[in-house]
Amino acid sequence: MTAPPKHSDPVNVDVALENRAYDIVIGRGVLSSLGERVAALRPGVRTAVVTDRTVAKYWLEPTEASLAAAGIPTSRVVVEEGEISKTYAGLQKVSEALIAAKIERNDLVIALGGGVVGDLAGFAAAILRRGVDFVQVPTSLLAQVDSSVGGKTGINSPQGKNLLGAFHQPVLVIADTAVLDTLSPRQFRAGYAEVAKYGVLGDEAFFTWLEKNHADIVKGGSAREHAIATSCRAKAAVVSRDERETGERALLNLGHTFGHALEAATGFSDRLFHGEGVSIGMTLAAQFSASLGMIAEADAARVERHLIEAGLPTRLQDIAGFAQEGLADADALMALMAQDKKVKRGKLTFILLEAVGRAVIAKDVEPAPVRDFLHNKLALKARGAAERR
Ligand code: GLY
Repeated sequence: MTAPPKHSDPVNVDVALENRAYDIVIGRGVLSSLGERVAALRPGVRTAVVTDRTVAKYWLEPTEASLAAAGIPTSRVVVEEGEISKTYAGLQKVSEALIAAKIERNDLVIALGGGVVGDLAGFAAAILRRGVDFVQVPTSLLAQVDSSVGGKTGINSPQGKNLLGAFHQPVLVIADTAVLDTLSPRQFRAGYAEVAKYGVLGDEAFFTWLEKNHADIVKGGSAREHAIATSCRAKAAVVSRDERETGERALLNLGHTFGHALEAATGFSDRLFHGEGVSIGMTLAAQFSASLGMIAEADAARVERHLIEAGLPTRLQDIAGFAQEGLADADALMALMAQDKKVKRGKLTFILLEAVGRAVIAKDVEPAPVRDFLHNKLALKARGAAERR
């Protein structure tokens, strides 16, 4: 891990995928360079910006202004905020709007938003006219460090998260760290879970740095850029070695097997943001690893302590409406996990820890010990307000 940069020049991270390689440009104010970068990449292109209502309020005009200044014609497609748009209906709306906007094979779709917009617009681009290129302009911390990089696009099925989708790499990612200033504290914290994930799964020195510096990331100076660039470098390295998740890319799913089940159990609603599900899932993965004797209880406690200090939920009982059907029931959670893409012939794949900073892919995990583990976790009492502080 390198020290945070002292300058404020944009940082470029290369996603090395041969003829589909692309840059992630990270820095305060880089949104204003979108138009000139797109013009340099694709002279004469038309664009359509896909965004949601909330992001549109703050960032659609600066985005369109940058494109207009570079002489790039553009149209806009605005969807509802949240997972409600990452559906068949949302995909239909975006696809039909892109066709109506006459976005052709050589044109570009620009995804301006968080993970939902990036996944949805990216998937629409992947299937529109059998594939149109797209640019990611992630506006949430989660999207900047995770979902905008690596080409996973898709929508949810009522039966599970991201069950329909395609690998479709963007041609450019513009991560303007200043746009994160308009995020709600809860959204920022949820994205932070994915930053912490990179430390927990593969970089103990980064995790230690985060333990000391996480509050500065919220403030928005060089610590924020360093955390985002370090996360993107980690992700880019994994994706360039294993684009289609035939091996090590699965490590990036740390916390996601439990997390996706919790998101499904809460109906993909605001009761649990994706990053919050990852935080609880990552804590459970660490504790499950400890229960198998793979790490010390103290290591699992260290992971949980940091996530709590960052203001994240770490227990099933932290979820709003926890007692409602489907959440407080180990069998119901197991049924949801059985729908996950990571299930093969009834056996679960989990990302477990051999150390803080060293994750491993555990295939063929029998459901019974997982069920017992969840059952024990569900028996715990909710943490009181005093304990959470
Ligand atoms: N979010 C995990 C991945 O992109 O592989």
